[in-house]
Amino acid sequence: MPHSLPYKNELKIAMEAADIASNIILDYRNSKAFDIELKGKNDLVTDADVASEKAIISHISKQFPNDSFLAEETSNELSLPKGRVWIIDPIDGTTNFAHGFPVFCVSIALWENGQPIVGLVKEVAKGELFYATKGGGAWLGEQRLNVSKLTDPSQSLLGTGFPYTSFTYVDEYLSLFKSLMQSTHGIRRPGAASYDLCCVAAGRFDGFFELGLSPWDVAAGALIILEAGGSLTDWGKGDNWLFGKQIIGGNETMVQFLQQQIDTHFYKLNT
Ligand code: IPD
Ligand code: CA
Ligand code: CA
Repeated sequence: MPHSLPYKNELKIAMEAADIASNIILDYRNSKAFDIELKGKNDLVTDADVASEKAIISHISKQFPNDSFLAEETSNELSLPKGRVWIIDPIDGTTNFAHGFPVFCVSIALWENGQPIVGLVKEVAKGELFYATKGGGAWLGEQRLNVSKLTDPSQSLLGTGFPYTSFTYVDEYLSLFKSLMQSTHGIRRPGAASYDLCCVAAGRFDGFFELGLSPWDVAAGALIILEAGGSLTDWGKGDNWLFGKQIIGGNETMVQFLQQQIDTHFYKLNT
């Protein structure tokens, strides 16, 4: 980690928590001894999710006993508590994890008074560690990250998430994908939104959009994009991407391009 980063202590504790959680997740993966339950249609949770979340909260709360938590498997809150709150996805990419497909992450963010100040995403199988602190830039290990500078969407590679729990907008999606397939280099769906956002920060994706995400999916990756010089918006050109369940990320030109595409094919959403 670079020596002079702001919020260095919080980042260090987040890194330790991510390491502890990654080891737990890998133990479950290697032993294949985990139970899978359904929280809703196609919405999986495993023992590894629960154990990872418990370990992360336990490690962080020992160091910062006055901070609060918004974590996928234990929180029902639909707003941010005042003060400092850690927003945690103990496994982002549970469907991948459960099927043995190697893109699943631990996502840990610290927000203070409505602003992200620390974001960390660790892709567990490959061990890639993405992180950012407010004002301290975005990093992949020791490497500084910058979003892509591409301004020609026809040369872009996009990331997204396909709907799998609710199919209300499946026709709109298909029409959007048809258009994007024909006007870009392609679309990828790795299966973990936190990783997708980091791929934007790293310039691997030129843009990302998804509908239906929760705060723990985006809280860390969003800061990593912002600190890599990127832009974020919800699908109505606003800034309600943490709780609003809609996000677009990329450089400004790509965000505008994706916004226009979404406006055209998802016109029902905002009417
Ligand atoms: C999911 C992943 C996926 C996205 C879903 C999320 P989970 O998170 O980020 O890529 O498409 O909307 O719910 O359930 O694996 O933590
Ligand atoms: Ca998630
Ligand atoms: Ca999860």
